[in-house]
Amino acid sequence: MRRREFLTTTAGAAIGVLAGCDACGRRGPARSSPGSGAAAVPGDPQAAADIELALRAEPARVSLFDGPPTDVWRFSARLRRGAPSALAPAGDGYLGPTLRVRSGQRVRVHLDNALDEPTIVHWHGLYVAERNDGHPSYAVNPGAGYDYDFEIGNRAGAYWYHPHPDHRTGPQVYRGLAGLVLVSDDDERHLGLPDGDRELTLVLQDRTFDGDNQLVYAPNPMVGFLGERVLVNGRLPRTLDVSRGPHRIRILNGSNSRVYDLAWSDGSPLTVLGTDGGLLDAPQDKSHVVIAPAQRLDLWASFGDRPGDDVWLESRAFGDLGPAMGMGMGRGMMGGQAARVPNGAPLRIQRFATTRQGARGAAPDRLVPTPGPDVSRVVNTGHPRTFTTTMQMMRWQLNGRAFEMRGVAGNERVRLGTVEDWEFINTVGPMAMAHPIHLHGTQFRIIERQHGPGLDSLRDGLFDDGWLDTFLLLPGDRVRIRVSFERYAGMFLYHCHNLEHEDMGMMRNYAVTA
Ligand code: C2O
Ligand code: CU
Ligand code: CU
Repeated sequence: MRRREFLTTTAGAAIGVLAGCDACGRRGPARSSPGSGAAAVPGDPQAAADIELALRAEPARVSLFDGPPTDVWRFSARLRRGAPSALAPAGDGYLGPTLRVRSGQRVRVHLDNALDEPTIVHWHGLYVAERNDGHPSYAVNPGAGYDYDFEIGNRAGAYWYHPHPDHRTGPQVYRGLAGLVLVSDDDERHLGLPDGDRELTLVLQDRTFDGDNQLVYAPNPMVGFLGERVLVNGRLPRTLDVSRGPHRIRILNGSNSRVYDLAWSDGSPLTVLGTDGGLLDAPQDKSHVVIAPAQRLDLWASFGDRPGDDVWLESRAFGDLGPAMGMGMGRGMMGGQAARVPNGAPLRIQRFATTRQGARGAAPDRLVPTPGPDVSRVVNTGHPRTFTTTMQMMRWQLNGRAFEMRGVAGNERVRLGTVEDWEFINTVGPMAMAHPIHLHGTQFRIIERQHGPGLDSLRDGLFDDGWLDTFLLLPGDRVRIRVSFERYAGMFLYHCHNLEHEDMGMMRNYAVTA
């Protein structure tokens, strides 16, 4: 049986078919959509989707401060089909609405570009075919649209959507274009994790505003953009009133370049339930946890024994992540400004105040068995493909190459249905800095990390377990990942998720061929 995905024009005519078949080893959920008998015919473009929405990228004004409103760009969405709970409004900040979907559901999205420049939406972390992945070559002009049609093939977890046009991802995300996609599945539901008002989502983004409350985007060409204050969910953080007892806190680092080393202000450990690609085998306690741009963390937390207790989620201080953080470099040689609040500055992020009684409870002992890819299936054990961070003409690159729209080098071709080991190398040198590395189209496991020198406390907070689509490659590190290419043939991106590095070309394609 062929699995097909259709790209339709805004007029609704099918113009493309992309193969990806069961016989090719794709392992996804069964085609049946729980809770909906609608999509009876696999891949049928006429069949109804479980969820259908109109998504618009548009200019908007939001009131973030007293005084004049702030001009932003924002995703707004209208549900055309599906349960109203599939679309949770974003609140009063600039973030786009949260999509709540289930594994196996078929989702159609019509994107409308109401900006004055090209854009395209990428579904970060989701397994989708190339045509649905938001590759920059699919960007649409102002006034035009794009139709997505995909099945949720991922495990329960927090994923997200954001623009991905060439050279302009950093500024578009910065102005407000981003939102969460929360996927649930049966495994997760059976755990009975805290939900309703005991499930909190926190999207962390640093921003700088001028005296008229307008966003200022002045990235340093080397370091990227580092803002002067941390916003939560697209607005200034307000104290969150919580009830006593267990909560689930889902965090996305939606910042362009900032790394957070999260900890509780009262010194209690963070209890990690999951990472980018969903839940762990079992919760893990850590005194602090690093979250790099684009990464997600699923935390379990129990608040206050008595009303009046309060606690902050903080980012701990850590050392310089790169060359231009301190003197001279940033300003002089690179022609940009040094950040007023550099990476590693200690930050208070979000305050939680216990204002209501509630039942106490413990985190579950076990979550969901999540074995990584079997070593016997790796086609290049002991001989990983290597990818080195490099710089030319003051621009970050990968293996000496900058992004080429449809360019794929010899070492960037893999076969559908295989599992490979890839190694990313961040050589130490005067220019070395941290790079959050992200692969599209797949989730992977870290199988080895050789640490570079220094940054000891930060390294201690790295969380390398679980399924990931993004990891932090620190100066001097060699990180080996095990990654499977079992979903779709096509061209996908891998890149640095420091969005300014991405925009300057620290991004490449890899091609999966049958
Ligand atoms: Cu969130 Cu290509 O990235
Ligand atoms: Cu992505
Ligand atoms: Cu980078």
